[in-house]
Amino acid sequence: MLNDIDKVLIDEKKLSDIVKNLGEKISEDYRGKNLLMISILKGSVVFMSDLMRYVTIPCQIDFMAVSSYRGGIKSSGVVKILKDLDIPLEGFDLLIVEDILDSGQTLTYIKKILSARKPKSIKICTLLDKPMSRKSPIEADYVGMQIPDEFVIGYGLDYKEEYRNLPFVGVLKPSLYS
Ligand code: IMP
Ligand code: MG
Repeated sequence: MLNDIDKVLIDEKKLSDIVKNLGEKISEDYRGKNLLMISILKGSVVFMSDLMRYVTIPCQIDFMAVSSYRGGIKSSGVVKILKDLDIPLEGFDLLIVEDILDSGQTLTYIKKILSARKPKSIKICTLLDKPMSRKSPIEADYVGMQIPDEFVIGYGLDYKEEYRNLPFVGVLKPSLYS
């Protein structure tokens, strides 16, 4: 697995600093609110499980799965709900927790359908942001780190469902997908 990595982009120490900072900021901003953290499966599970432990105010969590990739490295633009949320959203201040904001098509779709369910508020927290590859005009409210337009894996992020268990974020050798 390690032979497939070009370079480590964000190591474990840096990741935990980033996630701790986000958790502290979220805890301040959502004090007195009704926080519901929504993890978008599967990519954000590692980030979510670390982030929620840095959130020091009461909160609930839920999970949603969508598909936008068909095993390749670029989004298809077609988003489908594979697993919906278990709870109604009225009265909640939603925080969508995503691994990476790339073209923006996935989050644009998710934000639209969740807004229609009338939560009190809705914001986005993404670990990684690739601002250069945006196709839909959407920005996250909380960004862990901006990265260049390279395909990254690890810390939840996959290539063809593998590498999610790497404890760091790395760049995959382009020869593996080109
Ligand atoms: P978007 O709709 O193009 O913004 O795609 C967002 C989704 O694509 C993310 O939730 C990831 O699952 C996936 N994705 C985008 N860029 C990468 C990457 O560099 N590595 C792994 N997955 C990625
Ligand atoms: Mg994802």
